[in-house]
Amino acid sequence: RMEQRDRWATKIGLILAMAGNAIGLGNFVRFPTQVAGNGGGAFMVPYFLALFFLGIPVMWVEWVQGRYGGKYGHGTLGPTFYLMARETLKPRGALFFGLIGGALAFATTTLLNSYYLHLIGWSAAYSWFSISGAYFNVENTAEFFASYLSNHGLVFLFWGITVVLLAIAVGQGVSKGIERWVKVMMPLLYIFAIILVIYVFALGSPLGDPNWSTIKGFEFIWSPNWGYLKDHLWEVMLAASGQIFFTLSLGMGIIQNYASYLGPKDDVALSGLATVSLNEFAEVVLGGSIAVPLAVAYAPKIVPEDVLAQGSNAALAWISENFGLGFSYTSLPNIFVQMGTAGRFFGALWFLLLWFAGFTSAIAMYNYLTALLEEDLGISRKTGTWIVFVIYFLLGIPVVYISGYLDQVDAWINFQLALLALFDIIVGVWLFKPDNFWRELHEGAYINVPTIYKWITVIIAPIFIALPLFGTFSDLVSKTLETPAKIAIVAMLLLGAIETYYAIKKKYGEELAKNEVIIKV
Ligand code: PHE
Ligand code: NA
Repeated sequence: RMEQRDRWATKIGLILAMAGNAIGLGNFVRFPTQVAGNGGGAFMVPYFLALFFLGIPVMWVEWVQGRYGGKYGHGTLGPTFYLMARETLKPRGALFFGLIGGALAFATTTLLNSYYLHLIGWSAAYSWFSISGAYFNVENTAEFFASYLSNHGLVFLFWGITVVLLAIAVGQGVSKGIERWVKVMMPLLYIFAIILVIYVFALGSPLGDPNWSTIKGFEFIWSPNWGYLKDHLWEVMLAASGQIFFTLSLGMGIIQNYASYLGPKDDVALSGLATVSLNEFAEVVLGGSIAVPLAVAYAPKIVPEDVLAQGSNAALAWISENFGLGFSYTSLPNIFVQMGTAGRFFGALWFLLLWFAGFTSAIAMYNYLTALLEEDLGISRKTGTWIVFVIYFLLGIPVVYISGYLDQVDAWINFQLALLALFDIIVGVWLFKPDNFWRELHEGAYINVPTIYKWITVIIAPIFIALPLFGTFSDLVSKTLETPAKIAIVAMLLLGAIETYYAIKKKYGEELAKNEVIIKV
């Protein structure tokens, strides 16, 4: 029985959804941090190497996997991995890889969102705090943030607004829900970002001191520090691969999920490349041109006085060390305050930008879990979205109440992303067979991919994945996981494996029993 699956209604809707999936907090907060902290412009050399040897090939592998799974009615990784591994292995051997893919993707989409949704909720809150001017008359914006975080009712209120909207969008379906929402949100996201970039360029030296200008900020990010690159080569390569990975949403199962709503002959080669290009524009051009130049132009207002007294290099070093996610909520508000009334507008624009970026990524994870309930357990989409809501609510509780939990789960997730991407290649290219992969990539393709990319995907990409894999593993070892984080991780992996076993058994039980392939396209 062929079920009629939902499909993307328009090409532009699909591309915007995929761009929304990839473009997230990683572009506007994580990217400038990585550049500033890893040799400035010199970082871009390993960054582009990782883009071409890891990012683009894995993106294609995930698109091919997704469309392939969708042909059989699957938008989740377990059954998709099972079907692909079956090209080489007997059903019971393939089951093993199905369980790995299903368990890892389930654990990512549940655990990552336990905190990612809270970060998006903070952005919603701060959009409101900017418009209403809530932090404009306080002594200290960092203390304001701390007091916001300790107001759990408020934290859950903005979390709730965000997640209810996600549930509504996903509940409406792929073409009638997600696609319509991103068609509005993604153009707005680009417009917000472009307005902010133009404003940053126009600001010049807002404090009237030529030592501190947005141009200095651009210089700070982009002047290549070759000496640093040479002395920290391994570390910088690691940071670059990790960033490519995170920013393109690879190793999560959500690119595959979106690609599963393609028709069997819809292009993946050019569309995958378009996703990468849109993300990279939002990252390299837009992401690098907002927060760091602002921080440098207003450095005297945010850098502690004793550091400032040591000169501008010490101040820049302070910015690159302290720049990070928390910085957006502690230091940037202080900069918006300096702008006066305009700061209310630009502050709101910045936090809405973060909110849109996060929302359009989270919607993909939300849909993954909803598809899982729908396809594997026969639960209707509408009911499914509210079950996902409850799961997210429960998993978000330790994030708010247990200190250190967020960082520990995050360290595990970064490792897990690299691990799943490695299995993407093992299953989707090696076991599926490189020739099949290559043929699938060109099925209905609008472009011809140079043959060299076949070998890059088979051999070079896995080597590039090994870098973040080992790098994040050592980070993981240094961050001792405490009991609550361990319980959550093990529980989600187990639950994911059990669910996957059930899903595969339900549809492919007969061939598993005989251990012979029966179901063919
Ligand atoms: N690619 C996203 C980013 O750049 C990462 C992400 C995707 C995070 C989906 C959460 C959910 O931020
Ligand atoms: Na991104």
